[in-house]
Amino acid sequence: MINIQKGTKDMLPKDSYKWQKVRSVMWEIMRKYNLKEIATPVFESTELFVRSDGDSSDIVNKEMYTFEDKGGRSITLKPEGTAGVVRSFIENGLGNEILPVKLCYISPCYRYEKPQAGRLREHHQFGVEVFGANSLASDIETILIAFDFYKAFGIEPSIHINFLGCDDCKAKYKELIKEFVRDHLDKMCPDCHKRYEQNPLRILDCKSPICKEIVAGAPKMSEHLCDKCSTKFTDIKKMLTSLNIKYEHDVKLVRGLDYYTDLVFEFVDNDVTLGQNALGGGGRYDNLVESLGGKPTPVIGFGIGIERMLLYLENKGIDIPNDDSIDVYVASNTDNEHYIIKFVKSLRAKGFRVESNLMDRSFKSQFKYADKIKAKFVVAIGEDEINENKMSIKNMATGEQVKIWSNDVEEYLRKNV
Ligand code: HAM
Repeated sequence: MINIQKGTKDMLPKDSYKWQKVRSVMWEIMRKYNLKEIATPVFESTELFVRSDGDSSDIVNKEMYTFEDKGGRSITLKPEGTAGVVRSFIENGLGNEILPVKLCYISPCYRYEKPQAGRLREHHQFGVEVFGANSLASDIETILIAFDFYKAFGIEPSIHINFLGCDDCKAKYKELIKEFVRDHLDKMCPDCHKRYEQNPLRILDCKSPICKEIVAGAPKMSEHLCDKCSTKFTDIKKMLTSLNIKYEHDVKLVRGLDYYTDLVFEFVDNDVTLGQNALGGGGRYDNLVESLGGKPTPVIGFGIGIERMLLYLENKGIDIPNDDSIDVYVASNTDNEHYIIKFVKSLRAKGFRVESNLMDRSFKSQFKYADKIKAKFVVAIGEDEINENKMSIKNMATGEQVKIWSNDVEEYLRKNV
């Protein structure tokens, strides 16, 4: 037998309603916030991710599924959704008409990570990217979209925020961090040596205990912001407070991708036994469009891991309502298949959710089956019923049975289902 690949999951029929709910919540959010859906290919040129996500990121360094295709091109399965959306925004001139352009997607992502609970090699993200606006309103609206999404599943995570500042603030702060760790570099992990050269900010979120200890007393970004950035960050915090959104300022939050500038955030729940506590994350990336060849365009967005969220719901015992009952089971005991097939077709055409005897079961086992699939009513049709032009209907909840004219069945079901 050939088994599934490590770190990947089948979506089994028993769980499909959860994914349908995810999509229906996305559609509802699209309607409320006037977002438009976008889908980009699962694979792109490797260069796109190297230039977007950054060659100091773990994703680019260690986790990409990269291969050479038959034409000798270096191809990568998308490790995250943002880079492809930005590529498409530029390539299709989506910013040429009216701004902002507010996009969303549900996309598979591929990362060669060590699989564990909540960490997969193939996962899916609900992502939002808002192009063209750099304002308090766009920052807050983007965060509210994520909260609305979680709320639809009965979750209220907390939000951790940090502010990476403008290019000037970031450059100065990187130097401060380098200065701070310089004398300890020999004790730090090999990854941090690389980060020291490529993106010293990422030293702040190193998971190695020694590196963590070294950076514990590092200068805080928020204390080294220029006036404009400092005011902006204060305004964001004030607005969150006035919206009753509990936030935590996490001075070490830098996010794992190099494209972020300005505001970054993560949605977390600390009391969860997930191993991974980030249910989602995002931030502003105002330089990426330009650095990939587009017109300078500020953007803010986030990604929410769907599998991680579903696992979280399971661990917390939060149910997603699932109406998997059907309206009518048509039980038949006749050779007149034409009659039955036409009747079933007519019920479906009227909008009923209908099942019928596809397995040549006996009358008795059809009733058992109808019970198992949670049919609300069974319409039973045998030779007698056909000859009398009548049908028997059983209400499966009450056990009540009636025999009525065939022409009245639809009306009866409409009133009682
Ligand atoms: P990210 O933080 O790398 O950001 O991923 C977003 C979310 O995807 C995570 O918080 C987590 O819920 C989920 N996730 C990530 N990796 C895995 C994994 N291996 N297994 C299961 N779930 C995972 C991004 O990808 C950015 N593109 C988000 C963004 C959009 N920023 C701006 N716009």
